[in-house]
Amino acid sequence: MRILITGAAGFVGQILAKELLNDPNHTLILTDITEPPIPRGSKHPQNAKSIKADLFEDSASVVDKSLDAVYIFHGIMSSGAESNFELGMRVNVDATRHLLDSLRKTCPGVRVIYASSQAVYGLPLPTPVTEAILPLPSTSYGCQKIICENLINDYTRRGFINGFSLRFPTISVRPGTPTAAASSFISGIIREPLNGEECIVPIKDRAWRHWMSSPKTLIYNLCVVLQLPRGSLPLHGRQVNVPGFAVTVQDMMDALAEVGGKDKLQLLREEDDELVKPILYSWPDEFDNTLGLKLGMKQDKSFVQSVLDYKETLEESKRSVNGTSSLPLTNGSKVNGVNGVNGVVPVDGPKAIKV
Ligand SMILES: NC(=O)c1ccc[n+]([C@@H]2O[C@H](COP(=O)([O-])OP(=O)(O)OC[C@H]3O[C@@H](n4cnc5c(N)ncnc54)[C@H](O)[C@@H]3O)[C@@H](O)[C@H]2O)c1
Repeated sequence: MRILITGAAGFVGQILAKELLNDPNHTLILTDITEPPIPRGSKHPQNAKSIKADLFEDSASVVDKSLDAVYIFHGIMSSGAESNFELGMRVNVDATRHLLDSLRKTCPGVRVIYASSQAVYGLPLPTPVTEAILPLPSTSYGCQKIICENLINDYTRRGFINGFSLRFPTISVRPGTPTAAASSFISGIIREPLNGEECIVPIKDRAWRHWMSSPKTLIYNLCVVLQLPRGSLPLHGRQVNVPGFAVTVQDMMDALAEVGGKDKLQLLREEDDELVKPILYSWPDEFDNTLGLKLGMKQDKSFVQSVLDYKETLEESKRSVNGTSSLPLTNGSKVNGVNGVNGVVPVDGPKAIKV
């Protein structure tokens, strides 16, 4: 298949590109606002080309008639979209709409796999959260995601594209550096101690749990959608909650001790942060995976595997010839920060209601 990936310099774009380039039948166009690297370590790197483009201004330049599928990953993440409304709208909504229009005109019917987020769901929420629940986003990021989901629904219903909107759980363990986002510690609790650095855990409640997926399982699920028939979802309802699983702070600590050694626990500083805690308690921690699993997706069974995968990534990075990794290990420090659920304090303040 000939596949376009937008936001391909980012975390998910790079690991998906690496996986797809192991299949000689795929050719990839990788695009981002900075020139995306061709990931190292894949079997057929010659099957990819990179295009630097701002999709708001120049979406037509990355689209051609021969495309079979498009993964839409570009974006400004939760904290960035909350602190800069105009930038969030420009990239998350306008650039996506421009791209969808270019696809509609140039390659009608093309498969489109759109990265949405659990951040579309705001309170109040019943448990477990299903696709049937009306999403009422409480952040600009969530609002921008739901706008694009609706575009994907209508473009699919009209036959312009064959779209799928995948609501990702938080993907952990993510490489990068700590950010100010409330969700930052969810990767940092593993990443920082494995790097010999301290991580502040802003909640002392070790039973607090979060809904997440490992990068590896996410990539598997993204590949499943590459093959799904158009009729596998209603034409005007293309949303799927990507399967995740609940991980407690204690589970994270146990996985760190198991993979990194018990001494790493000493690098965790548990301190209740009264500003962050209400945000953490406001996030849904149980979703219904039924639809995703029915479509052939899978879910993680243990957080230990995620930590082992991350450790392998680190080792691969060290092995690489010039000391840089095939994964964007510093990408978390770019404009966008960590991509959690509602990883920022909404402008109208945190809501601690737990339904
Ligand atoms: N990683 C997660 O935990 C998570 C969770 C939920 C949803 N998502 C969604 O998945 C997608 C990928 O996430 P990620 O973690 O790889 O994000 P990321 O921040 O690592 O990558 C996003 C990329 O978009 C690019 N971009 C920004 N503005 C652009 C523009 N105008 N034109 C072209 N490219 C532009 C950035 O340069 C960046 O490389 C995002 O849409 C995100 O909202 C991610």
